[in-house]
Amino acid sequence: MSDSIKRIAVIPGDGIGREVIAEALRVLEVLKRRNRWPLEWVSFDWGAEKFLREGVTLPAGALEMFRREFHAILFGALGDPRVPSNQHAVDILLGTRFGVDLYVNPRPVKLLDARLCPLKGCAEREIDMVIFRENTEGAYAGMGGNFKRDTPEEVAVQEDVNTRKGVERIIIHAFEHARRHNLKKLCMCDKSNAMPHGHGLWQRTFAEVRKRYPEVEASHLYVDTLALEMIRNPAQFQVIVTCNLFGDILSDLGAGLVGGLGVTPSANLHPGSVSLFEPVHGSAPNIAGKNLANPLAAILSAGMMLDYLGFPEAAGQIESAVAEAIHLDKTTPDLGGSLGTREVGDWICTRLA
Ligand code: NAD
Ligand code: IPM
Ligand code: MN
Repeated sequence: MSDSIKRIAVIPGDGIGREVIAEALRVLEVLKRRNRWPLEWVSFDWGAEKFLREGVTLPAGALEMFRREFHAILFGALGDPRVPSNQHAVDILLGTRFGVDLYVNPRPVKLLDARLCPLKGCAEREIDMVIFRENTEGAYAGMGGNFKRDTPEEVAVQEDVNTRKGVERIIIHAFEHARRHNLKKLCMCDKSNAMPHGHGLWQRTFAEVRKRYPEVEASHLYVDTLALEMIRNPAQFQVIVTCNLFGDILSDLGAGLVGGLGVTPSANLHPGSVSLFEPVHGSAPNIAGKNLANPLAAILSAGMMLDYLGFPEAAGQIESAVAEAIHLDKTTPDLGGSLGTREVGDWICTRLA
């Protein structure tokens, strides 16, 4: 693999994943041409259609291929009502998160326009935080099983797996982020009052790691209280670090504070190695195929990807263009606008060109 060319694997996936990734790719094309950036991408048709047609979810050798041939993965969403087991999403998305060890899942929650916030009188500067979600273990580890399935005595066990290595590395990553960006407030969130074994490990690890970052004001909240505080006073948070399941839930709650799932991007990182970028939202079957999906979260995710690939100015330019589109109501109906997915993509492309 040539080191100068940045290679991107594109997995649009299902439903609106395909529609929003099409717009993100048009934005990448514009930036690539304008700046002569050495980017190239290859698309993969993995998703529900292929699974239903060929029985294939994550093809054999895919993870090795990512590591060997690509610097980044741009991902849309997976999920289709015709696959109630969600098997293909578990294999492809969770399979890649676990298989490539993408242990850091940063999910920024930033208010780009005060009108998008449902809280009374909330100013833009009052909501700007990043949730660092542990991305390789916890309740998502897939350990467990069903005993006496489909009988009145059925027992279902879904283990919550927390390892010292896994907990420590995500907490350290969150503190390093705070240090690098001169952020003073970091909150670790768990449920150690009810889950003393697994989340007791989070408590003990946090107590140890925080000592190495005396300049960061470290605090702890149980997840139920954190959910309340995020609504009551979101300005108190800059960096939040938490487990896989709580990070999933809190990132949708965060999205609710800043305009919904149409505007929240995310990354799945293994620092220094191939990493995956995706909007926080899913495949939204209720609006798929209607040119209604908001492409801004996918476009912002492409910005996070360009930053990771070594083009840091791109993320700022994309975020400014997105904020401007929102200020001028060049948006889809979820944000109160009257444009379609493609028309919002057009507007951003013209603005960036
Ligand atoms: P969802 O995120 O797909 O949709 C939730 C709600 O938000 C829906 O009303 C939807 O219309 C709206 N919405 C989401 N993204 C939007 C956008 N870009 N523009 C406008 N509106 C948007 O969550 P869900 O309905 O719970 O799940 C649908 C499917 O997606 C399920 O199969 C689920 O497992 C899957 N899913 C996948 C991912 C992923 O691939 N990363 C993430 C979440 C859900
Ligand atoms: C997300 C999604 C996934 C998750 C699902 C589709 C397994 O909700 O990326 O937020 O829970 O991680
Ligand atoms: Mn989610």
